[in-house]
Amino acid sequence: MRTLFKNIKELLQIRDESIKFVLGKAMAELPTIKNAYLLVEDGIIKEFGSMDNCPKTEVNNLVDATGKMLLPTWCDSHTHLVYAGNRESEFVDKIKGLSYQEIANKGGGILNSAKTLQETPEDDLYQQSKTRLEEIMALGTGAVEIKSGYGLTLEAELKMLRVIKRLKQNYQLPIKATFLGAHAVPLEYKNDKAGYIQLLTETMLPQIAEAQLAEYIDVFCETGYFTVEDTERILKAGKQYGLIPKIHVNQFTSIGGVQIGIKYHALSVDHLEEMRDDDIQALKGTQTMPVALPGCSYFLSIPYTPARKMIDTGLPLALATDYNPGSSPSGNMNFVVSTACIKMKLTPEEAINAATINGAYAMGLEKEVGSITVDKKANLILTKPINSYGFMPYAFGANQIDTVFINGIAI
Ligand code: NIG
Ligand code: FE
Repeated sequence: MRTLFKNIKELLQIRDESIKFVLGKAMAELPTIKNAYLLVEDGIIKEFGSMDNCPKTEVNNLVDATGKMLLPTWCDSHTHLVYAGNRESEFVDKIKGLSYQEIANKGGGILNSAKTLQETPEDDLYQQSKTRLEEIMALGTGAVEIKSGYGLTLEAELKMLRVIKRLKQNYQLPIKATFLGAHAVPLEYKNDKAGYIQLLTETMLPQIAEAQLAEYIDVFCETGYFTVEDTERILKAGKQYGLIPKIHVNQFTSIGGVQIGIKYHALSVDHLEEMRDDDIQALKGTQTMPVALPGCSYFLSIPYTPARKMIDTGLPLALATDYNPGSSPSGNMNFVVSTACIKMKLTPEEAINAATINGAYAMGLEKEVGSITVDKKANLILTKPINSYGFMPYAFGANQIDTVFINGIAI
């Protein structure tokens, strides 16, 4: 099965297979070819180049991309898109000025979502989640990480992870699963956090690992949730079961979460709205990807990750949606890319790098997706006719996508 894209106005994000992620000044470079072709064979990028060298071979599909851009699909390395119901009931309280923590104290927050999820049958949860997955795919996401963490009991955490597994089986895009049992301390353990951590490490983890339901382990390392010591204990246990850390840190307070992530070789440390200079310095020269979630800053009216400073210091950066019912009820990576430019002062090149190649790395998929590279998956966004790629983040809130291709097939 061969598909040829021809007359592509500009083919974006061309990378050598040796590039795992880009950092610092290199984030400002986005290699492209103008007036290009790209050939897909059996779902894989076979070759590409200038139209002058376009092959004359027989193909099954011909896509005329005149006036359009072609780029790799977005890589959304941080979502919680498996959840039940929503938290619209908290929206007006939020508008009226209640903080994230005040809403949680009133019976809202993560525990509210956990209660709803525990009461939702597995098939219903699957149906709700698949709608969200299809929605983000139509918005250009072609690889995604999904977390558990709204279960908070053995059964409900397993239910969430089984739903993620079913999504993996039924959809063609790469999906990675993360166990986030340490998302909040459930009410039953309100006065016995150690007991909950014991349940998590001694009962949940072995069963999840045995059933191969997760690749990563996550902890909400934050004042009022899990301390640095709790986090260390959980990451240690996770590692014993082969789960790689990818953690929530520095969302509201800087308490040493970044450093503990690095110590345990976290693949990524995510949120980072509150960064001290030593947090930024600690990340230098490591293999841990900092991930910013501007949708969360936008929705909660909290600071944006100091991404400009981090990149100028020489760090890499990935962008993700944090799609979840409480702090970022949107899985739209186009909005994230745009917001990163407008509010975090990234250039379009930096934002596109952060949302593709660096996002792929932040979920261990850099060999499969995230760039236009021979032998990577043909997960591609074909835009509507636009003058330049910078128009995508500039025209915020509008959709510049014509067609999304997963393994070379239009969805
Ligand atoms: O990444 N911060 C922790 N977890 C989610 C929010 C969860 C919720 O409010 O439901 C986040 O922002
Ligand atoms: Fe999150």
